[in-house]
Amino acid sequence: MNVRESEKLSGTLEALGYERAGSEDEADLILYNTCCVRENAENKIFGNLSYLKFQKASNPGLIIAVCGCMVQQPDVFNEICEKHSYIDIVFGTANHGMFPELLRRRLETGEPVRDISGMAVAETEGSLKSLTARGHSYKAGVTVMHGCNNFCSYCIVPYVRGRERSRAPEDILREARALADDGVKEIMLLGQNVNSYGQGLDVPVTFAGLLRRVNEIEGLRRIRFMTSHPKDFSNELIEAVRDCDKVCKAVHLPLQSGSTRVLGDMNRKYTKEDYLRLAEKLKERVPDVALSTDIIVGYPGETEEDFLETLDVVRRVGFAGAFTFIYSKRTGTPAALREDLIPKDVTDERFKRLTETVNPMLLARNEARVGTEVEVMLEESKSRLGVRGRADDNTLVHVTGTELPPGSIARVRITEAKTFYLTGTCV
Ligand code: 5AD
Ligand code: SF4
Repeated sequence: MNVRESEKLSGTLEALGYERAGSEDEADLILYNTCCVRENAENKIFGNLSYLKFQKASNPGLIIAVCGCMVQQPDVFNEICEKHSYIDIVFGTANHGMFPELLRRRLETGEPVRDISGMAVAETEGSLKSLTARGHSYKAGVTVMHGCNNFCSYCIVPYVRGRERSRAPEDILREARALADDGVKEIMLLGQNVNSYGQGLDVPVTFAGLLRRVNEIEGLRRIRFMTSHPKDFSNELIEAVRDCDKVCKAVHLPLQSGSTRVLGDMNRKYTKEDYLRLAEKLKERVPDVALSTDIIVGYPGETEEDFLETLDVVRRVGFAGAFTFIYSKRTGTPAALREDLIPKDVTDERFKRLTETVNPMLLARNEARVGTEVEVMLEESKSRLGVRGRADDNTLVHVTGTELPPGSIARVRITEAKTFYLTGTCV
């Protein structure tokens, strides 16, 4: 979602006459779009900002702007206002549309401009769409909803992105059609919890219904969506994924923990058995579906038994991909009040065991595809192994023997498998 929002902000700057600078040294303006979902991301930004402070000393005309989730936190916002006076512009997650105005004010007055208001207002995506500088010619993200109402105990997102607001289906379809007309072949429908799409709209519409309508758009070849919450993955949505020819048979389904007790603490509203049942149902009803997941290790109070439950789910589901995270304390969330933190050596060891369980399974899954033919959408970039591309389930494939343009779908015979990618020849 941040990538999508950065593309929009770049497009806004291009519309104002800015051009992309070759390096930070040549820039007149540097804009950081931030993430605060884990502490690491935040530390990186603060590290970079301290570096820019020196840069600004040698180039006083440089404008430094920071936006996004991180500055939406009151303590971070106050810290920037009080201690980082060299930051010229600060704006939050819901006022991207105001960026040109904030920039104008900064240029005219020479004073810092800081505004993180407007959280409750759904952004007028439509008007900004035409200003998007897309990172790829053939694939694009389309936001279907903003915010989140789930309040998982560890997560900062509901606090920095506000309550769920669904965009009207007509706006989403218009944007998706315009992208398809512009040559886009793959669309990723984005939302913090796409399963609850449609709530609060005047017209009753579900995410499954939306998916079926996007599937009818001519010119599109692939449709993906992210993220789904296991607690409300409806049968209707399973059927839509199965039926819609353009919808990739790949579902990202964050598990977070395999322990029912920890899931309760996390306020996830499903049990280990619920998750396993859902995974089974998806596999039964959508042949060859690829399930990927997010897992957190070291949530406060997580015991060895709890962690073994997570490994058990990993083994039983056989994920096609897993993003694994060490729990990170986020001030303002309920989990941040807990004192039963897991020592670093224990989380590190569990994290290692988790990757040692996941990775061989990924390798085995990829090895089983050697000798088969898969459809790969080709990307712009090349590596020493060939042209990069993605299989329907999002596996990275390096393809040789093709001159097809980016966005084409090539049939590729797989010749070699590694944990995180495949290699193959275009047939
Ligand atoms: N600590 C660690 N991981 C987190 N995530 C969200 N919040 C935290 C946190 N405080 C992970 C979850 C989520 C993914 C986007 O980031 O796994 O699904
Ligand atoms: Fe965070 Fe939970 Fe919402 Fe995902 S569903 S954004 S983890 S609160």
